[in-house]
Amino acid sequence: MTGDSELLNKLFSLIHDYIKTIRDDKSLITHYKTPEALPSMFDPSVDGQGITSDKFLSLLEVYLSNSVKTGHKYFCNQLFGGFNIVPFVAEIITSLTSTSMYTYEVAPIATLMEMELIKKMNQIIGFRTGNGQFVSGGSSANLVAALCARNKKFPDLKYKGIHGKSALTMFVSDQAHYSLNKVANLIGIGSNNLIKIPSDHNGCMIVDELEAALIASEKKGDSPFLVVATAGTTVLGAFDPIEPISVIARNHNNVWLHVDGAFGGSVALSKLHSHLLAGIHLADSLTWDPHKMMSIPLICSVLLVKDNNILNNACACDNDEYLFHDHEFKDYDLGKSSIQCGRRADVLKLWFSWKFFGDSGYEDRINKLFKLTEYAQAVVKKSARLELVATPQSVTICFRYIPDRDTNIDQLNLMLRDQLMKTGKIMINYSYYKDQVTIRLVVINPDLETEDIDYIFDEIISAGKRAEIKL
Ligand SMILES: Cc1ncc(COP(=O)(O)O)c(C=O)c1O
Repeated sequence: MTGDSELLNKLFSLIHDYIKTIRDDKSLITHYKTPEALPSMFDPSVDGQGITSDKFLSLLEVYLSNSVKTGHKYFCNQLFGGFNIVPFVAEIITSLTSTSMYTYEVAPIATLMEMELIKKMNQIIGFRTGNGQFVSGGSSANLVAALCARNKKFPDLKYKGIHGKSALTMFVSDQAHYSLNKVANLIGIGSNNLIKIPSDHNGCMIVDELEAALIASEKKGDSPFLVVATAGTTVLGAFDPIEPISVIARNHNNVWLHVDGAFGGSVALSKLHSHLLAGIHLADSLTWDPHKMMSIPLICSVLLVKDNNILNNACACDNDEYLFHDHEFKDYDLGKSSIQCGRRADVLKLWFSWKFFGDSGYEDRINKLFKLTEYAQAVVKKSARLELVATPQSVTICFRYIPDRDTNIDQLNLMLRDQLMKTGKIMINYSYYKDQVTIRLVVINPDLETEDIDYIFDEIISAGKRAEIKL
């Protein structure tokens, strides 16, 4: 039986090897195995016997070698990626000191960290008296924002329920994240009352269409209560024009304007690119996921709200006296205005990372990602085999491989992507945009350099050629 110290030493060595693999460009990101094949390497069953520490270590080894190396430079598959020691260590400390963010007494320093970062992020976006909270993901941030919007429109609904009200309607672009469909379900308005506004050829909401939809909804006798603009759409990385959208929201009974900046909120950190968020100070709330463009390990998500009291109004309830006691510093008990009870101290990894790299470190990082995306765009434009699907606005580039001969381009691109993923050398995703398959490369890892972009596109074109032969 291995003791704590010996176990930790061995663990440290495993972690160290894993980090070396992530940092090695030539190592594979994934050794793809089907769900039928994987159990032959890793038995997922749990039984009554228990295991020794040595067996525990050997299982960890198998887990690590079969995990997808999302910190690897060539993992460009998702809106998150990259690996940094500082937030990783903070994550370990979060787990080591396992606590909940509901009361100051059990999370004293973490509470101060959260209050400080919420203040700082509000200042950055121009919510002068704003409030906010760390939540369990961008989807949850969007959900809580919608609760706030609903509470502003119908404060009594929290107590009386939704019965007898005219239909509550919310408006998003046709490029908005699917979490908003879930939000319509979760807050009880129903997905038929989620109104999708068409987007233009760059994937941005068409403002006149929003106005027309609001007027139509009002004419029907519905109650529009929420407009959501997206800052960094999931597929194209496009930014809806917040300023003109805010004017329309204001002109229609001050309907709540939420900005889903889960992906693009971090652009606020760059003086060069924050113009993409122009008008953000006019919104009522913002979702901002530091686990995306700031490369903080999952999960790290923030909801910011302009009205200091709204979270409390929308989320607080009674019957919580066992936890929230009356005391001198009760304003430091952050949990009352959260929809969660237990809440992880996700703030630690962001706070330590921000402290370590500073504003300038993050600004440089965001600027670098944009520059690399510009470079990637030039590579696509130069290639006879690749075609841009839309002009990139941020750090996502969507394109298609165009074959030499007449064939099914969608099918070919699906094959290309599948082949590439199974080589394990590069991971990029695909999606559908305006009914066509598009390959989506997310330039999310700040360790990437232009040579890496060249390498990635060489591999993509080779995979395209192989797929052409097979099709
Ligand atoms: C625009 C947008 N909003 C919200 C989300 C959901 O964020 P999370 O995965 O943190 O729940 C995503 C996820 O990719 C997204 O792209």
